[in-house]
Amino acid sequence: MTIDPVELATVAVTVENGIAWVSFNRPDKRNCMSPRLNRQMMRVLDDLEFREDVGVLVLTGEGTAWSAGMDLKEYFRETEVDGLGGTRKAQRESYGWWRRLRWYQKPTIAMVNGWCFGGGYGPLFACDLAFAAEDAQFGLSEINWGILPGGGAAKVATELTSFRRAMYHAMMGENIDGKTAVEWGFVNEALPLDQLKARVAEVAAVLLKKNPVALKATKDSIRRVREMTYDNAEDYLIRAQEAANSYDSEGRKEGIKQFIDDKTYKPGLGAYDKTKQR
Ligand code: COA
Repeated sequence: MTIDPVELATVAVTVENGIAWVSFNRPDKRNCMSPRLNRQMMRVLDDLEFREDVGVLVLTGEGTAWSAGMDLKEYFRETEVDGLGGTRKAQRESYGWWRRLRWYQKPTIAMVNGWCFGGGYGPLFACDLAFAAEDAQFGLSEINWGILPGGGAAKVATELTSFRRAMYHAMMGENIDGKTAVEWGFVNEALPLDQLKARVAEVAAVLLKKNPVALKATKDSIRRVREMTYDNAEDYLIRAQEAANSYDSEGRKEGIKQFIDDKTYKPGLGAYDKTKQR
């Protein structure tokens, strides 16, 4: 089946030094998410997930926006004409790639270069880490056009920030900037836009040096244990580590050896050299 070139162009990808830079690529529409973009993003995630030359995925936006949320015309108005089936299909396509990203094999970083609204909170939360431009604007704008913050956005706000802030944010429809987004827990750090990419590349370079099996087990654990009792979490973590050992039983032994026997590094100060691992 041939895919419409307009649909293919909704997402841009460059792979460089182990990092896949994936961009929302509808800058003239402020990178709002249309069904075509959602379908293409899922294809891109599929293509990159198990590639040997990709160790970290960065999600960013072309132009002045990260993503202005769902496309009010193509995602809402034009799918509603197909009735419930049209709406559910559009939801499956968007929620589908966000879920895929939440549990992605590789570490993921949201590089929020500009506007981030409503539905954009889905992929924002799906990324493991998030870095923003100080001038980026975050908003639950749904209330401003007459709906509730759906598509998981209300959930994301309450997961990331306090009850009072989430309530104010959702009810008032006021934006916050990148620095406030740090204070609220939406992102890890905010930087001047011209320093953003370099900082994200630096973080990605650190992640690329870590044991990839341990990274996947770690990121899944942090997401899973949030919803567990202490005892369930303790049990999950035992099992998750033992499952990780079935894919990589040598990594942690090498990590211990390089510290205790070889004395070539200190785990408190950095990662072991995984290139020496058998
Ligand atoms: N859905 C559909 N179209 C959108 C869109 C969205 N979410 N966000 C932007 N666009 C379109 C605009 O309609 C405009 O299209 P046009 O050139 O055909 O007129 C184009 O993108 C540029 O947008 P514009 O509003 O002129 O850009 P701006 O830089 O002045 O403002 C925003 C940027 C993000 C503040 C503004 O576009 C906006 O409020 N977007 C909607 C945000 C929102 O509520 N998203 C939904 C959350 S679920």
